[in-house]
Amino acid sequence: MNAPRAVFAGSGIAVPPLAIDNATFARVLDTSDEWIRERSGIVSRRFVEPGVGSSVLGIEAARAALADAGMEAGELDYIVCATMTPDHYFPGVGTLVQEGLGIPPLPALDIRQQCAGFAYGLQVVDALIRSGLARNVLLVGTDVHSALMPLSPRSWDVLLGHDPGPLDAEELAANSRFRHLVVLFGDGAGAMVFRAEEDSGRGILGAVLYGEGAHKEILHVPGVGSARRPFVSIEQIANADVVPVMHGRHVFRLAVTRMPEATRELLARHGYGLDELDLLVMHQANLRINEAAQKALGLPDSKVHHNIYEYGNTTSATLPLCFHEARAAGKAPPGSLVAFTALGAGLHWGAALMRV
Ligand code: ACO
Repeated sequence: MNAPRAVFAGSGIAVPPLAIDNATFARVLDTSDEWIRERSGIVSRRFVEPGVGSSVLGIEAARAALADAGMEAGELDYIVCATMTPDHYFPGVGTLVQEGLGIPPLPALDIRQQCAGFAYGLQVVDALIRSGLARNVLLVGTDVHSALMPLSPRSWDVLLGHDPGPLDAEELAANSRFRHLVVLFGDGAGAMVFRAEEDSGRGILGAVLYGEGAHKEILHVPGVGSARRPFVSIEQIANADVVPVMHGRHVFRLAVTRMPEATRELLARHGYGLDELDLLVMHQANLRINEAAQKALGLPDSKVHHNIYEYGNTTSATLPLCFHEARAAGKAPPGSLVAFTALGAGLHWGAALMRV
């Protein structure tokens, strides 16, 4: 008997209602709607209320995906959860999702490949189902970036309009030091449910994935880890070692070359031409990256989907969030061939292929 396939059964998303537009950021740092829109394509992003961790969004997206799949949470036999912003240093979000869904114990795995997390997750789900280790798998991508942002409680109050401001010049300057980061990210979650089915050509077809530590320093958090003793300290906070370091131009250059390369390699490996692809779901870090990747691949607008305007970069949540909305827009009907591609910290990058 042929190995079963991981067939897509349903998707769901969770985005917080609080939307902050670009102009509002000018209350707390030196920026403008024009700069953000022109350089990144971002218009707005969503933020959770303080104290809402990634698991909360992940559970909501999981429930929506299960409802879409017509599956009871109790039918799941494996959870894979991608996040770079877990609620706690440990445990990860996998077991928090299991508990939130109110289901009996089951294997619950956290993976942390940052922006490429969901693409890696698709390969993990494929392997679990093909090997017969699992039959009904939930894959969640969830991130809460607002908690990572180096803004004081007062800055948050001014940003959210709870305090009329203005901030003093010193605080404005301190926040502006991170303006290249803070304006790019948002909070959100997306989930997909997969079922083991006899091979009929549908399901996850495969993935091409890479990790390369040589580029680790272009996107990383220098502090808060076992390489420091203690893993976090007042000095680290004062030095901003707890804030991500991002060499934006370097990341940009790698993304515009490696996402198209991985997509081409993936399609070739599975014997498809670019003309046979119905939809390419790209990580949403910067609209300019995706425009360049689309051009490099020669894909028409109808075969890509963007939602960075509304959400910014939601890291692990981006691929399922974008796929869900593309599907709602009729771009990924049953039987369509969909590729996912992403690049992020690690460096991790790659692409995954699915017949819906
Ligand atoms: N508002 C106004 N000005 C700004 C802002 C801002 N928010 N941010 C930076 N600037 C200024 C800089 O200070 C600089 O000013 P200077 O010329 O006086 O020094 C100027 O704008 C140009 O800055 P650059 O960093 O060179 O701008 P660039 O065109 O490269 O755009 C950006 C920056 C948007 C970050 C871009 O490089 C990018 O998107 N890179 C990729 C990011 C990415 O993909 N991250 C990975 C995902 S995250 C993950 O895996 C966790």
